[in-house]
Amino acid sequence: MKVVILKDSDSVAAYGADIFVKHINKKPNAVLGLATGSTPVALYKKLISAYSNGHVSFADVSTFNLDEYLGISGDHPQSYRYFMNQQFFDHINIDKNSTAVPQGDAEDPIAACEAYETDIKQKGGIDIQLLGIGRNGHIGFNEPSSSLMSRTRVKTLTRATIDDNARFFSADEYQPHLSLTMGIGTILETKLVVLLATGESKANAIKAMVEGPLTASCPASALQMHQDAVIIIDEAAASKLLDIEFYKHIEIENEKLKERLAR
Ligand code: PGA
Repeated sequence: MKVVILKDSDSVAAYGADIFVKHINKKPNAVLGLATGSTPVALYKKLISAYSNGHVSFADVSTFNLDEYLGISGDHPQSYRYFMNQQFFDHINIDKNSTAVPQGDAEDPIAACEAYETDIKQKGGIDIQLLGIGRNGHIGFNEPSSSLMSRTRVKTLTRATIDDNARFFSADEYQPHLSLTMGIGTILETKLVVLLATGESKANAIKAMVEGPLTASCPASALQMHQDAVIIIDEAAASKLLDIEFYKHIEIENEKLKERLAR
């Protein structure tokens, strides 16, 4: 795991967006794994401005989102399909037919999950996977106790996640308690993981993910097994880590090595 600690949320979004822009410029038909939630919004804004300024094109990119609520359709304002259109896809030159979000209103959700896995494989796998992290350590909707080998499937949301996301639903609105989500095994197969977290409310989850044991009680700790995971966090989200100085030292040494190799 590479832990990058930056001063604030804007720097976190800029650092993450830069990884995506560089990658897409190297591989214009990159397959992106995308995430919803509050944290990725700032990164999407940076990518939209990179596109508007002519620094990147999404014309040949395809995307797979991590998860979706089960029981609502893509035109529901709280669906993750709707979120992605509003926050990102409607503002860039991506072909919407190349953007996939698990189908929340599928007649057979189990078959839809299996088909999602097949579609990812047919595209050659995910090149870069964007992740947030829940306060309970979830990634996607892989809640604590999720199998570390899990694939895309139907998953029950915890009370903590339902409460965290209640802010998006009005008081009289139906809030789903089930989801379709890529599994932890699916996420571990992506080539590069870029996880963003900001704010003190994420500090315990970040500590458990980076310095805790590998355990289904903190699904994000599975990323300790990923070969190329970059964890980009602000000072507040890093505040409970024990080895902050070491992670910063690694970054400085990596930069020096990069300079030396570039000479
Ligand atoms: P947030 O959600 O970015 O809204 O905090 C992150 C997550 O639950 O994955």
